[in-house]
Order: sequence, then C-alpha cells, then structure tokens
Amino acid sequence: MSAQLSNPLTDPAADPFEVARRAADDIRRITGVDTHDIAVTLGSGWGKSAELLGETVAQFPATEVTGFSAPALEGHVGTLRSVRTPRGKHVLVIGARTHYYEGHGVRRVAHSVRTAAAAGAATMVLTNGAGGIKPAWKPGQPVLISDHINLTADSPLEGATFVDLTDLYSLRLRDLARSIDPSLDEGVYCQFRGPQYETPAEVQMAKTIGGHIVGMSTALEAIAARQAGMEVLGLSLITNKAAGIQTTPLSHQEVIDAGREAEPVISSLLARVIGAM
Ligand code: HPA
Repeated sequence: MSAQLSNPLTDPAADPFEVARRAADDIRRITGVDTHDIAVTLGSGWGKSAELLGETVAQFPATEVTGFSAPALEGHVGTLRSVRTPRGKHVLVIGARTHYYEGHGVRRVAHSVRTAAAAGAATMVLTNGAGGIKPAWKPGQPVLISDHINLTADSPLEGATFVDLTDLYSLRLRDLARSIDPSLDEGVYCQFRGPQYETPAEVQMAKTIGGHIVGMSTALEAIAARQAGMEVLGLSLITNKAAGIQTTPLSHQEVIDAGREAEPVISSLLARVIGAM
C-alpha cells in the first residue's frame, strides 16, 4: 500500500501537469541544465544512440525524478541522461518508458513526455520496436511513423480536451530524417494494448483499416506530446514481420535479438537525425 503511494501519479487527485513540473525541476537541479531543447524516448533497439548524440552532461536513475519512482516491487525503471549535441542543443534522453500494458494508468504513460515538455523540450522523438505489416519490410529496418491509429480505447487527455492531431507526426521532421537517410520508408503505427502480441486476424484488421506497423507504445505518448505543443518525430524499428505476415511464432527473444543486431546502424541514424535538429 505505502509502496503504491510512493508515486504521486497514483493519487487520482494529483494534477499530472503539476507532477511533471516538479519532475522537470528535479531534472534542472540534477543536470544543471535550465532548458532541454529536445527529448527522445529510446525503445527496443535504439538504446546505443544515447552515447552517439554528444557529450553526456549527467546520467541518473529515473527513480530520482518525481513521478518516475516506481512501486518497490516493480524493479528497474531505467536511466535518464542529459546530452549536449555538437550544435549545442540539450537533449533529454529517456532510457525507458512506462508501457500502457503495465496497468499503471495512462498518466504514468504520459509522464515522461509531460516532464520533457515542462523541462523546455519543443521536440519529442519517440522510438520503438514494432511488427511490420508491409511485406517488403525486413526485420532490422527502421521506418518513419507517418500517422497512428490508437487501438487502446484510452487517451492521455482528460475531460473535454479537444486536441488537433492533423500532422501529429511532423512532416518537417520526417523530411529532415529522409535528408539523412533517403531510403527511410514510412507507415501508420497501430498501438495495441498488449502485452500479448496480436493475432493474425488482428494484424489483418490493422492492415484493412490502414495500418502498416503494430506495437504497444507511442500513440498515447504522441497525443500527450501534441497536447503539450511539441513537434513529434516517430521512428519504429521493425523487429519482426507482424503475426501471420511471418508464419513462424513471435517471441520476445526474436524482438530483442533483432534490436541488438540493428542497434549500431539505427542508433547512428537517430544520432545524426537529432544532431541535425
Ligand atoms: N507487435 C506488437 N509489438 C511488438 C511487435 C509486434 O509484432 N514486435 C515488437 N513489438
């Protein structure tokens, strides 16, 4: 019980934006950086880019920041890092995300994005590992997210908060990424609740309604980022062909292995894209 209450976001009466402001103050105090310009969430396979982005100003456990503190039994929640790019931009690197399927509620999912916005970031880069529906896509291939379909039946927005999502995934930033790697394809990301992988029928549904990528993150975070006024870039590493597109069963190990193999290439891509911002 007391462990549950150790995270202020578990109190329904808490204001999630006030909690994010406190988290941003923690980050200012720990890093000595008054304003972060860009934030990036590193999903499966993207972890190595933190080192390539520039000079690490500070690196610290996320548990030192308000609202990231996990209940005692939850274990590791990852590392935050403040990096200065060669162009002098301050990047907040979020080394782990809270997934919706963890069941802690959508406020916890959105907290890292809201904290990044409160820390000053105008740009939110969201990365993930995901399943590919387009038959030509191969495991290990990075793709841009052009739009999303939110299949979680939930939202980080509370009450009558009407937020425009036209061009949520910034065309300007997608063009910037393509200027670094012209071979980048793009597609529509479908966020499923998870944690089970999709059935082949669900993948066919996603395809029929216009999806190209299936995963368990990103869409809810992107909505929170847009609410906060941030410009969003989304990148998926295709770790596997989606269920039924590939005939063999999906495994978490396959996802991890594909991420590890692709890591050097996609991390350098991500570092170059962010370095050009
Ligand atoms: N589906 C959902 N999430 C995923 C997948 C997938 O096929 N691969 C990696 N994350």
